Amino acid sequence: MRLLLGQVILIQLWVLSAFGIKNPIIPGWNPDPSIIRAGDEYFLATSSFEYWPSTPIYKSKDLANWELYSHAFTRPSQAQLYGVPTGAGTWAPTLSLVNGKYYMATMTRWTYDPVARVWPRVMWVSSHDLKTWSDPIWGDAWGIDPSLFQDPATEKVYLNLMAPNNNIDRIWGIYQCEVDVDSGRCVGEYRPLWNGTLPHNSSARPEGPKMFKRDQWYYLLIAEGGTDDLHRASIARSTSPEGPWEAAPNNPILFNGAYGYDNLTVQSTGHATLFDTPQGESYVAFLARRKINGSSPLGRETFLSPVQWKNGWPIVNGGEPIRLSQSFGNTTDQLSPRNAFTDSFDRANLDPSWYQLRVPYTQNFMMKEDGANGIIFKPNVFGLSDRDTPAAILRKQTSLNMTFSAQLLPTKSGLGYGETVGISAYLSELQHQDIAVSGCVNSTGMCIFTRLMMNSITEYNQVKLNSSTIPSDLTLHIRAQPLSYTLGYSFGMNGTIDWMQEVSSSWLAFAPTNWFVFEGASFALFATGTGQPWPPHAPEVGFSRVTETFYEENIPDYDKW
Ligand SMILES: *[C@@H]1O[C@H](CO)[C@@H](O)[C@H](O)[C@H]1NC(C)=O
Ligand SMILES: *[C@@H]1O[C@H](CO)[C@@H](O)[C@H](O)[C@H]1NC(C)=O
Ligand SMILES: *[C@@H]1O[C@H](CO)[C@@H](O)[C@H](O)[C@H]1NC(C)=O
Ligand SMILES: *[C@@H]1O[C@H](CO)[C@@H](O)[C@H](O)[C@H]1NC(C)=O
Ligand SMILES: *[C@@H]1O[C@H](CO)[C@@H](O)[C@H](O)[C@H]1NC(C)=O
Ligand SMILES: *[C@@H]1O[C@H](CO)[C@@H](O)[C@H](O)[C@H]1NC(C)=O
Ligand SMILES: *[C@@H]1O[C@H](CO)[C@@H](O)[C@H](O)[C@H]1NC(C)=O
Ligand SMILES: *[C@@H]1O[C@H](CO)[C@@H](O)[C@H](O)[C@H]1NC(C)=O
Ligand SMILES: *[C@@H]1O[C@H](CO)[C@@H](O)[C@H](O)[C@H]1NC(C)=O
Repeated sequence: MRLLLGQVILIQLWVLSAFGIKNPIIPGWNPDPSIIRAGDEYFLATSSFEYWPSTPIYKSKDLANWELYSHAFTRPSQAQLYGVPTGAGTWAPTLSLVNGKYYMATMTRWTYDPVARVWPRVMWVSSHDLKTWSDPIWGDAWGIDPSLFQDPATEKVYLNLMAPNNNIDRIWGIYQCEVDVDSGRCVGEYRPLWNGTLPHNSSARPEGPKMFKRDQWYYLLIAEGGTDDLHRASIARSTSPEGPWEAAPNNPILFNGAYGYDNLTVQSTGHATLFDTPQGESYVAFLARRKINGSSPLGRETFLSPVQWKNGWPIVNGGEPIRLSQSFGNTTDQLSPRNAFTDSFDRANLDPSWYQLRVPYTQNFMMKEDGANGIIFKPNVFGLSDRDTPAAILRKQTSLNMTFSAQLLPTKSGLGYGETVGISAYLSELQHQDIAVSGCVNSTGMCIFTRLMMNSITEYNQVKLNSSTIPSDLTLHIRAQPLSYTLGYSFGMNGTIDWMQEVSSSWLAFAPTNWFVFEGASFALFATGTGQPWPPHAPEVGFSRVTETFYEENIPDYDKW
């Protein structure tokens, strides 16, 4: 790209420095990052679709290391995700400061059923501390990726979003109105703002508008090109938040698929937010995929890149594509591989990194009492394939090279056919790879089974447990590698693992025709009656411990395996 020699030298110096932030900054599926700085702390919200609680907010002081800080939606009154399919739910938050208060604008898509033709209406919640959030205010507009921007010059508040021109031709563009944040009403004209830089027709998707003011200019940063490999960031500027907009000469300012670099591992770079550090350095936070032999089991993760300014236009990463080997910034690199994560379920509440699916409206688990470790499930009729809320808790897969191990609680008696407790490498209700314990198929007694879901093909395998109860040391394992998931069991966390089945990781990164999968892989603990209520004579089931072990993650810059 249009790059000056000085910038090349500067980038080289960054690369050679002993310090540096490495991408992704928030590993595991965390798309649509929106970042806001509060003093010397950064807060970053991402999409969570049908996961509950909804819309995680991470916090960092150094931009390299992030902790889960809060969730914006923790009460069903805020986001009623009952029955939403994979790929629907709550998307694309934007954090902003309006009248000294934090706002998060977002949207919920209840379903994308083509018959229902339900399109999302936008809403926002507010908070004084980014931890406890209000009930939503619903905006007048319908569309995707809403953001609120308060003009520091006039204090007017604008709602910017991606919306259709009307309900007949549905040509999407960036739209705007001045809003009253308390009522959700447009108090100014609702009007088209910018159609982006690509040919404007019914397949165009100028999305994710983020507006900010810098010096005398207002900037409108958007994503374009759809959610797949053509995803990119483009920018325009104006002397007014209402336009007219002048597109940057170096658009797209962020696009790894450009310049013939579609062979890079990092792809789908876009949906960016631009911000400054207290020292005045600029960065963009954005989403990108790591492509592993063509597919991305971890979905879209959160990335960061340095920005320089030239003639009032931003240059991302010195105009160079984003590479995993690159590090930048003046901070200590993240620890790699990370320390193991262990949860012994020994606290009164579940660790906030565990999620349920959709909105839990029944009690699906409880923590073991009397000082004992463990989580006890209250299995219901639903399982991981149902578009409801099974007794399941899930953690995002955060490394392409790790093991997820879960030790079961011993049972007092055996499990009958269909009575199931186990773990899963989970992508959606249509794609999950399970290893679990249940009554055997076609024979008496209990079995450990694997069930692989590969599009319309389901592959089932079982081995006799040879025990009338679940023993206290039975541990189930998922070994996740870049190209595969392997399912196994051992007796004892450290016992020899019998690996039962392997499945290509591309099955955890795949949407069947007419479906969307916007998430990445998670690991689930689950129990289910498989369509039947859990019988009163069936034993209590659950887990005593989960361990995630991380290994070095040498993912190449180019998607060559
Ligand atoms: C964007 O396209 C729409 C629909 O074609 C059109 O009505 C609108 O005027 C365009 N907006 C701008 C800012 O050019
Ligand atoms: C929209 O324009 C793009 C680029 O010219 C083209 O590839 C695409 O087929 C068009 N879509 C429709 C529905 O016309
Ligand atoms: C990737 O593509 C670029 C641009 O086409 C090419 O120069 C480079 O050799 C390719 N790299 C690999 C590892 O295939
Ligand atoms: C990469 O994917 C292709 C199919 O697209 C498959 O044939 C090949 O075996 C895969 N490579 C590896 C190393 O798994
Ligand atoms: C990097 O950070 C250290 C410690 O905060 C500071 O002393 C140093 O001046 C910084 N260097 C640059 C180039 O900003
Ligand atoms: C159970 O028996 C049926 C009928 O013989 C057979 O089709 C099926 O493959 C068997 N399943 C297993 C897991 O053995
Ligand atoms: C149960 O016993 C059979 C026969 O000895 C053996 O093949 C199988 O591996 C045993 N199952 C387990 C879970 O160890
Ligand atoms: C399992 O191995 C790990 C690491 O080698 C060790 O820290 C742990 O104490 C062992 N656990 C048991 C139950 O032996
Ligand atoms: C994954 O970890 C294993 C065990 O440490 C190591 O041998 C392997 O090279 C790692 N794979 C990648 C892609 O980094």
